[in-house]
Amino acid sequence: MAIIISVGSGKGGTGKSMVLANMAVLLAKQGKKICLVDLDVGGANAHILYGVLKPEATLTDFLNRKVSSLQEVAQPLSSFHGVHLIAGTGDTLKTANMPYQTKQRLLRNLAGLDYDIILMDVGAGTGFHALDFFMSSHLQVCVTTTDPTAIIDFYRFLKLAAVRKALSAFLSHDVISKTIASEEFKSMEDVLELADRTRQGARQKAEAALAGFRPCLVINQVREGSAMNKLKVRHVARQFLGVDLPELGEVPWDEAVQESVRSYMPVCEYAPESPASKALKKIAGNLLTHIDKVTAQVNSPKAD
Ligand SMILES: Nc1ncnc2c1ncn2[C@@H]1O[C@H](COP(=O)(O)OP(=O)(O)OP(=O)(O)O)[C@@H](O)[C@H]1O
Ligand SMILES: [Mg+2]
Repeated sequence: MAIIISVGSGKGGTGKSMVLANMAVLLAKQGKKICLVDLDVGGANAHILYGVLKPEATLTDFLNRKVSSLQEVAQPLSSFHGVHLIAGTGDTLKTANMPYQTKQRLLRNLAGLDYDIILMDVGAGTGFHALDFFMSSHLQVCVTTTDPTAIIDFYRFLKLAAVRKALSAFLSHDVISKTIASEEFKSMEDVLELADRTRQGARQKAEAALAGFRPCLVINQVREGSAMNKLKVRHVARQFLGVDLPELGEVPWDEAVQESVRSYMPVCEYAPESPASKALKKIAGNLLTHIDKVTAQVNSPKAD
């Protein structure tokens, strides 16, 4: 079974697509069969980062039932051995606003793809699609910069993602769903307490839905002198979300990244010795360690 990893952020432009394009290539070099899926339905651009300017097939072909299986739109990238890409387009209103059933069909098909690792780019922000795609994975990577506005958006994004996941345990017309969806919560514990007060067994249901919440952090575009209180970030995650927030690593701001984007190549191939590439290699190594842990958990008899 493929391990699914999602990448999201509260704020746009933090570097999700760049990090993911590099992770795909670096993990493939470790012998993993990789599929990168561009689910940034409003702003898909992963194909551009690999120099595929006009993808032969896209996610839209699957969503519009032009093809029946998602596998048919997964294109091998000839320059990057071991990496397949499901390109997004998002240039129709229908794709950007896909109905619930379509989203479920997409997620079911995703889980059935034959790869070791599926990397999902869910785009930025707290729209329902982004939150649902983000939380449908085994491991959730958040990319933030050290910019205070990005950090605030990152907290908000993680909190809303967790609340939405807890909500998925209940039917939409359930009184618990209605109450949770319309209240503002300080922490996930408050959400669980509300479920507990409302109906017997509801807390356990919400907790079970949250069992697959395994967020981890990449800090990107780090400049000399830019400060981020990582201890505080982890503390806030523990206190308000009830989870550990392991850090996969930091990527420095690096001109080589900008040049690589203009050259339609992931920086780890374009400038392998650049500071950003070295940092991304470390992150890929840490990600593999997490993937091994998650694989063991998912395959254990008590798996979520
Ligand atoms: N470490 C870095 N050093 C220098 N420039 C960077 C770095 N990371 C990202 N960038 C620049 O930021 C731009 C945006 O990155 P990217 O497209 O990966 O962000 P994103 O989070 O996917 O954006 P969106 O939210 O719009 O999908 C890149 O095109 C690149 O020029
Ligand atoms: Mg992007």
